Amino acid sequence: MLKDRRILITGGAGFIGSNLAEYLKESNDLVVLDDFSLGKKENLSGLDVEIISASILDDSALNSIEDVDVVFHLAAVPGVQDSIERPLETSMTNFIGTVKILEMMRKKDIPSIIFASSCAVYGNTEKVPVDESTCPEPLSPYASQKLASENMIKNYREIYGIKGISARFFNVYGPKQDPNSEYSAVIPKFIRRCIEEKSPVIYGDGKQTRDFVYVKDLVRALSLIAEKLPDEHVFNIGSGVETSINELAETIINETGCGKEPEYREKRAGEVERSLADIGHIKGLGWKPEYSLKDGIKETIEWMRRSR
Ligand SMILES: NC(=O)c1ccc[n+]([C@@H]2O[C@H](COP(=O)([O-])OP(=O)(O)OC[C@H]3O[C@@H](n4cnc5c(N)ncnc54)[C@H](O)[C@@H]3O)[C@@H](O)[C@H]2O)c1
Repeated sequence: MLKDRRILITGGAGFIGSNLAEYLKESNDLVVLDDFSLGKKENLSGLDVEIISASILDDSALNSIEDVDVVFHLAAVPGVQDSIERPLETSMTNFIGTVKILEMMRKKDIPSIIFASSCAVYGNTEKVPVDESTCPEPLSPYASQKLASENMIKNYREIYGIKGISARFFNVYGPKQDPNSEYSAVIPKFIRRCIEEKSPVIYGDGKQTRDFVYVKDLVRALSLIAEKLPDEHVFNIGSGVETSINELAETIINETGCGKEPEYREKRAGEVERSLADIGHIKGLGWKPEYSLKDGIKETIEWMRRSR
């Protein structure tokens, strides 16, 4: 486990960032940089972290950051749909924001960065499971912004010697994921509907698949990457298990005890049919997922019930 470092987490008040802060806080000194556009103060309550409430695009905030050993760069506008509606504004945060973080690191001699990339960079791949050597085919501005950030991180590695690694997250879920946001992921949406004794809504026939990775498994993988700083510059992080939306709905209906059947609506345009990570690469570092979907869902339901 990563120890005795001073760590900057951008986007640290968000879902994944605050789970990462919780995991790292015992043994490290943490600084969170977040503009609270999507993140929440309560996600960090009870955690002993320094908070800089500012945008990653704010030069004076970036200048104020001192003595950091490693950056976890998670700040982003994460919605695919939002990026389609606002390609320029989202590129400012999701791409220029990454360049600004890298420039700050270059000026301040910060040696390493772990970047929150996405399986979206792969697009609609024919072959599953998808491994890191698959040629990316981004299908949205969001995916292009992530891929451009990955490439820039690679440039900074080769030209300026900053060790940068991009972690391509598959579908992450768990406590602190916002069920109310317009861009909410399927798991918190289904759980909320089931807790309210309503049917989960499935678009299409529900046979489409995803690779759901529990946030506590994901943050362990991120910490391990930062600790080992391997030479590879891209890692998939998923569960390595393919789950259909029908299976997911059934698990959530059973675990919440909601007596409803799913409600089916028309398939949404542009949805990926199958998604599954080849996690051989990250397993080679000594990581493997510890949570089954059922166990992760149980903890998430408990958290959602407590926080209502
Ligand atoms: N949740 C997933 O399944 C998933 C999958 C793939 C990749 N990711 C990536 O992981 C990262 C974290 O995602 P999340 O699910 O925790 O989302 P989130 O919305 O909960 O967290 C993003 C955080 O970034 C902050 N932020 C946004 N713009 C900012 C700016 N200009 N300056 C400073 N802070 C800013 C938000 O306030 C928020 O706290 C993102 O980069 C996202 O693209 C997430």
